[in-house]
Amino acid sequence: MTLSQRMQTLTGGGSDGWDVFLKARRMIAEGTPVVELTIGEHDIRTAAPILQDMHRSAMGGHTGYAMVPGTDALRDMVARRTSERTGVPTTRDNVLITPGGQSALFTAHAAACDPGDTALYIDPYYATYPGTIRGVSAVPRAVQTRAEDAFQPRAADIAAHAPDARSLLINSPNNPTGTVYSRATLDGIAQVCMEHDLWLISDEVYDTQVWEGAHVSPRALPGMAERTLVVGSMSKSHAMTGSRCGWIIGPEEVIAHLITFATHTTYGVPGFIQDASVFALGQGPDFEAEIAAPFLRRRAIAQRVLGAQNTIGMIPAQGAMYLMLDIRATGMSGDDFANALLDQHHIAVMPGESFGNAAAGHVRVAMTIDDAGFEAALRRLTAFAETCARAA
Ligand SMILES: Cc1ncc(COP(=O)(O)O)c(C=O)c1O
Repeated sequence: MTLSQRMQTLTGGGSDGWDVFLKARRMIAEGTPVVELTIGEHDIRTAAPILQDMHRSAMGGHTGYAMVPGTDALRDMVARRTSERTGVPTTRDNVLITPGGQSALFTAHAAACDPGDTALYIDPYYATYPGTIRGVSAVPRAVQTRAEDAFQPRAADIAAHAPDARSLLINSPNNPTGTVYSRATLDGIAQVCMEHDLWLISDEVYDTQVWEGAHVSPRALPGMAERTLVVGSMSKSHAMTGSRCGWIIGPEEVIAHLITFATHTTYGVPGFIQDASVFALGQGPDFEAEIAAPFLRRRAIAQRVLGAQNTIGMIPAQGAMYLMLDIRATGMSGDDFANALLDQHHIAVMPGESFGNAAAGHVRVAMTIDDAGFEAALRRLTAFAETCARAA
């Protein structure tokens, strides 16, 4: 039997730069202690009161099919939170609950693109983006950013690709760079979207992890609510990665179609997960800040460690749980550096090349281990970079 082209070409061929990650996994399986700084997942687990609420809901019988668009309670809660955070009036009719942000990304592209349409995304990018676009039989096209701009996209670069495109996917705070898009960047992006009639798909799953500046949702910019689909999730804000609960926010008439799409694809999210999400969101911004706090602390550690040397450059890390480090002074590619660091020091980081072309000569460090271990690993990484730079 022959598989569809869509399935066969989903990853675009090749390893997509996951070699270092897979090598680290093999080393760990063989018993080598590896310091794992590759994964975008908290080092804490979902809080016990959230799990207790999930248990209460399941034991209370909320184990059957749930409402496909999401429960009224969760849609209302997400809508209220969105209105409060962005100032854009939002009701449950603007919200579809999805099995995680990833499903929301897929659904949003299915809404925006027909087969063969060009869908733009920003390089460096979150690993699943091109495959998600191929998954709806659209054609992914990367718009490059530059390290010297701290990876803020330039509107002119997007405009150059816009004439034959249907959609643009952005992500702020950004994985992998930690960049938070400025108001000026977002104004420029909004302008291009309006001029070229593009859908804007705004991945805001890190919106509670902002260390510098403020998170601006482009849906709040003039004229943008009608063409913006916002992707959100409980994964990063509430340490609920395994619960698979996210959402899309968009115009009412679009959400109505996406509910039909969800009926024919996911059939919704389990009721007890949705109830626990209502409980978690009900804990308010203080709880969200508590979940985000370790990354802010570790960013301060990184600023202290890296501030004392000048071999490695650090992209400002304005948000999210990652550091993007410029290791070009070593004369090595991100790939070679990450491989050598893993082989010689048993520290696993992601090569910048795993996230596209724009972050070549960089490595991404996830701030996802305890503070002391993180500081020790960063010191070893720095010393290694200095040795490599001297030899270069
Ligand atoms: C930028 C970005 N978007 C979306 C996701 C998907 O998150 P989830 O499907 O767990 O909500 C991730 C996960 O790492 C991410 O980094």
